[in-house]
Amino acid sequence: MGLLSRILEDEKLVFENPPLPSLKVGEGVLFSIPEYLRRQGFSRVALITGGDSYSAGGYREQFEEQLRAAGIEAPHFPISGEPSPLKVDQIRDTAAELQADAVLAVGGGSVIDTAKAVAVMLHHHGSVREYLEGVGSLISKPLRHPLIAIPATSGTGAEATKNAVISEVGEHGFKKSLRNDAYVPDLAVLDPLVIKSCPYDVTAASGMDAVTQLLEAYVSTRATPFTDALALNGLQRSRWSLPASLRDGENLNARGQMAYAAYLSGVALAGAGLGVVHGLASPLGALRNIPHGVVCGTLLPAASELVVGSLLKSDTESRGLAKYSQAATVFTGSDHGNAEQNCRSLVDELYRWVEEFSLPLLSDYGFTSAELRNIADTSSVKGTPVDLTPDEIYSILNRRL
Ligand SMILES: [Fe+2]
Repeated sequence: MGLLSRILEDEKLVFENPPLPSLKVGEGVLFSIPEYLRRQGFSRVALITGGDSYSAGGYREQFEEQLRAAGIEAPHFPISGEPSPLKVDQIRDTAAELQADAVLAVGGGSVIDTAKAVAVMLHHHGSVREYLEGVGSLISKPLRHPLIAIPATSGTGAEATKNAVISEVGEHGFKKSLRNDAYVPDLAVLDPLVIKSCPYDVTAASGMDAVTQLLEAYVSTRATPFTDALALNGLQRSRWSLPASLRDGENLNARGQMAYAAYLSGVALAGAGLGVVHGLASPLGALRNIPHGVVCGTLLPAASELVVGSLLKSDTESRGLAKYSQAATVFTGSDHGNAEQNCRSLVDELYRWVEEFSLPLLSDYGFTSAELRNIADTSSVKGTPVDLTPDEIYSILNRRL
């Protein structure tokens, strides 16, 4: 019996999945959005975009011309850096004054998360800070403005997830989520024309975020048959489309395939949760201004090596190990016929990618070993299929210091 058959037959079909956005996928599909907005009856859309990426993409002029032709006003809110509570509050206040009737995000994960928070906070009083998990004490109601997300990077899958990460960086910083089904956009638009100008380092880091999300969701203790199908398919697509996007950013097929893989990673993580790498991403990102994708990419090989090693030591027949092995065959494109060798190939391939894509080290962002020790002592392994001690978690961090 094949590995996948064994994994499927062991499964008990009891699960639920959060809502999904509608989806438009394809080259140039961006230009159908103005007419779509008009037909939905919208007339003033808060347009939240990246600071530079929106203008650099080469599509802005035509897109805005079509908005005007469709009679859509689009007050523009360009943002850069992490989504802070202050930014969200300011955009929400202005969008409310202007009586925006929908929110449209064109940008990376930070832009989409800001737009999600704005769309919900347009229906709530006070600062968004009051509604953040672990920071405020209020819970946001499932009410929001209509929300469309158009990713300009292939990574976070924010266009599909039910949370928005809001952060403040520094000694007392935080990276915390707003979370409920209202944060799932109504529509996600995946257009390689919006992504093709994404620079090499951002493509590499955000792509590794997507790969991390796909792998962590697939092996998660909370994985479901639905998320498994999507995560495996996303891993298969990212295997060729991420390196191909990096070799030639103008390769629209590769850009489109990677955008779809990233979207799948968002759907998978929303239903299955994540693992130890994402457990470390929040505290690391709260302390220093390090891109989320860099944290994920730089830590994924060492984390996978440690988890696989621990599974091999504890139970070679475990479901967790079988799933790593299955993910390995899809991601590397070869099956060695035994779990240990498959997992070794997966780990080797991940190390090779991180080397080839020149993912930075943690020390490049000023982290010290004392800080990493502290983070290891307090971080969560989330849905990782094996428990890890603080010393083991520290060894993952130290490997990439
Ligand atoms: Fe992530």
